[in-house]
Amino acid sequence: MSGADLEIDLPAGAAGGAGPRMDWRAGAGRAVSGRITVPGDKSISHRALMLAALADGETRIEGFLEGEDTRATAAILAAMGVAIQAPADAVRLVRGVGLHGLRAPAQALDCGNSGTAMRLLAGLLAGQDFDSVLTGDVSLSTRPMRRVVEPLTTMGARVAATPAGTAPLSIRGGQCLRGGDHVLPVASAQVKSALLLAGLRADGPVRMREPHATRDYTESMLRAFGVDIETDASGWISLQPPARLLSPGRIEVPADFSSAAFFLVAASVVPGSELAIECVGLNPRRTGLLDSLLDMGADIAIGNRREAGGETVADLHVRHAPLLGIDVPPARVPDMIDEFPALFAAAALAEGETRIAGAAELRVKESDRIAVMAAGLRVLGIAIEERPDGAVIRGGRPRGGVRLDSAGDHRCAMALAVLAQAAPAPVTIGDCANVATSFPGFVELAAAVGLELAPGQSFHARGDRLRR
Ligand code: S3P
Repeated sequence: MSGADLEIDLPAGAAGGAGPRMDWRAGAGRAVSGRITVPGDKSISHRALMLAALADGETRIEGFLEGEDTRATAAILAAMGVAIQAPADAVRLVRGVGLHGLRAPAQALDCGNSGTAMRLLAGLLAGQDFDSVLTGDVSLSTRPMRRVVEPLTTMGARVAATPAGTAPLSIRGGQCLRGGDHVLPVASAQVKSALLLAGLRADGPVRMREPHATRDYTESMLRAFGVDIETDASGWISLQPPARLLSPGRIEVPADFSSAAFFLVAASVVPGSELAIECVGLNPRRTGLLDSLLDMGADIAIGNRREAGGETVADLHVRHAPLLGIDVPPARVPDMIDEFPALFAAAALAEGETRIAGAAELRVKESDRIAVMAAGLRVLGIAIEERPDGAVIRGGRPRGGVRLDSAGDHRCAMALAVLAQAAPAPVTIGDCANVATSFPGFVELAAAVGLELAPGQSFHARGDRLRR
């Protein structure tokens, strides 16, 4: 779809990409030990803000992720008239404006590095009465957006991307959105959620089926806000557009499994380690890495399993254990889609080969994660064969004294920092500032439990990597 008739002026710098560049030094860590909690779930924090904004009444969100991604969503909702207070760290009070209460923003809405913010908000904004523009940073501005533009267009929305199918997204308000059926070509919780959020303003029921079930937080949360939404035995999800959303009052966000993942791998690979990670969300559509690590021989016990905020949470106890390479079942890929950088680190230190296939989606995440992790492993002297949809990794001993590049990808930076713990001498990891998008305080927490990791500031702008 051409964006020609939908062009809206962007403020200077709206495409993002400039900011302080942060390098890390990592290596030869001590045994990992202690009892930790990691920050709140990123996916749930975004959704809690968005639905609370559209509800009638006030919602208190506890365990909110204080990350750049989720703060970007909060700032965008505030720019459309939603009052959001932060009475304490990791707490938000959202005064909902109702399904029809958002106001036209005065300028483009900057999603920063967050694909979840951009894709979900595209759905939410598609049915509003006003025009809007969603922008993002350098990385987000290269990520595929046709996957949301096309099904939203089928619903009658007018959403335009660039000719390359990327952000900025220009959204023309005042359209009448139609209900109907969608068979989604990609297993993407973001695409599914965009359609569900658009469906809140549709003229009839919206139904969709995914090629593989993905995280169902939007469905659960819509239900908690009083929306009639069902998933049948054949995987069809049906949403009945509601007259209004009723605030559930309080949402408890569990700790993010994706953030816990780096510590699961670190404690597994560093000899002598023993670590407890408390109250981690164990939604089965998120825990593929746990299954893969157990298949590799990891010693991880799941204790104190309970329900919190409608999700299963548990404490994870992990002890060092020698890991063996595995073939990751392709059917498990969507359940661990964010955990492949961590898995690459585990595989690099495991005995034998780990084979990954059916994971081409990794190439369109915050970076091309197959290429970035493969480059890092190669520099560390670990044998890796890159495939279009995965890799074959032969475990070994990483070398020290080298420089790695995280390519501004938060999860690659954290995975490389974990892998570096096995190097005999420190390594430098470049471009790590984006770790603040999902895991502020990672360096401090990692160092507190025994990882050898420290930040170092460099004087380059983040946008430099475009020009190099
Ligand atoms: C997310 C869904 C996943 C995941 C991302 C967060 C979400 O993306 O990779 O980090 O919150 O819905 P896709 O839906 O594109 O697979």
